[in-house]
Amino acid sequence: MKILNVVGARPNFVKIAPLMAEMRKHAAIRPLLVHTGQHYDLEMSDSFFQDLDIPQPDINLEVGSASATCQIAQIMERLEPVLLAERPDIVVLVGDVNSTVAGALAAVKLGIRVAHVEAGLRSFDRTMPEEINRVVTDAISDLLFVTEPSGVENLLKEGRPASRIFLVGNVMIDTLRNCLARARQLEPAAFPEVWGENHPGRCYPEPAAGSPKPARFALVTLHRPSTVDDSLVLRIVWQALEEIGKEIQIVFPVHPRTRKRLRDLGLDAAVNGPPAAPKGVRLIPPLSYLRFLRLESLATFVVTDSGGVQEETTFLGVPCLTVRENTERPITLAEGTNTLVGLDPARLKEEARRILCGKGKQGRAPALWDGQAAKRIIATLEQCLPQCPDTAPSRVGIPSPTAG
Ligand code: UD1
Ligand code: UDP
Repeated sequence: MKILNVVGARPNFVKIAPLMAEMRKHAAIRPLLVHTGQHYDLEMSDSFFQDLDIPQPDINLEVGSASATCQIAQIMERLEPVLLAERPDIVVLVGDVNSTVAGALAAVKLGIRVAHVEAGLRSFDRTMPEEINRVVTDAISDLLFVTEPSGVENLLKEGRPASRIFLVGNVMIDTLRNCLARARQLEPAAFPEVWGENHPGRCYPEPAAGSPKPARFALVTLHRPSTVDDSLVLRIVWQALEEIGKEIQIVFPVHPRTRKRLRDLGLDAAVNGPPAAPKGVRLIPPLSYLRFLRLESLATFVVTDSGGVQEETTFLGVPCLTVRENTERPITLAEGTNTLVGLDPARLKEEARRILCGKGKQGRAPALWDGQAAKRIIATLEQCLPQCPDTAPSRVGIPSPTAG
């Protein structure tokens, strides 16, 4: 069985790692990996292949950055000959980025089956580029692998047949579980850009005097167009971060989209004091997966607009303040440590203070986020594919939704 996997952006790499590892354990599966080139910087791409032991892509389409339309069109155009040459039994796509929807469209246009991993998530906000990618990808995928029950409900409401939907758990959490022990071995000396090469005692920042909880640092990631592309919004969020930074050191690995925007507003240079300064906002380049995971697991809290980070913090039990009006991952609110603060700086500061007073949200890891999602997905593919020799819906004989 030939499975062609398409990835392109940072969160894709985190999600494909356990799937590729699992596929390689099965003699009957021949996995191919196509990198679209949507992300290409060392710290946005190569470092993930290294940290996560992902095999080098068989093909890189090298599309680079462009408008969404051009990027999707170029991926489709460059993927088509690859699909024609390889004729895979199925194309596997993960997540909700432009590479995901482009891969799905290119495959279905050639009558090749598509499996979507992380299907069914909905923010119900169609101004969000990823929401369009999710809706379109799910509408044309043959197999839909879902991380949380809301995804199953959404797909059923959209009329997708139950026989194609599989609640399997979360491959991003598979990766986290696989990597946490290795990440925990990283000492402060591994973060000279944060704590300086001669950080006293070579230990992580100590609890603040009188603090009921260790006040170490807050980790920030922001990159959604709705947060960073609007100057007014970015300035407001930035001011809130500066104020929070007076109470706890903020460590902010900056996504390239955000780096450009901060530079445009002249906010990128002024803030960095010497490494290991106890307070303030420390801007650093994007981190490789293991280093980011280390900081995420140590942080007193996280401020983010990332999808994946909401899930990871829920698993880690670290309070997460999500700078968005909605989330496509409601289980992180209902069961996890996530709180939506919207684009309201007062709310962000208030919730940060609550956490610093020891009143951070507690949560638990959702069902099936047990490190076995990739195993379930590959078992389902092995079971289903021989039964569905073509993409005609009536021929796709797939068992009913299952938790395992
Ligand atoms: C994309 C995804 C988003 C995901 C994010 C993960 C879409 C629509 N968006 O957003 O869902 O959360 O990736 O990080 O697919 N750039 C670089 N170097 C790189 C990559 C990008 O400098 O390696 C810069 C370019 O100026 C580019 C900008 O970042 O124009 C945005 O990149 P793009 O891939 O279009 O979107 P992201 O914001 O990264
Ligand atoms: N991540 C990372 N380094 C960073 C920021 C994030 O390794 O500097 C990881 C994070 O742990 C998660 C993934 O990147 O696994 C999330 O990707 P991102 O936030 O870019 O995309 P989203 O999940 O919002 O689509």
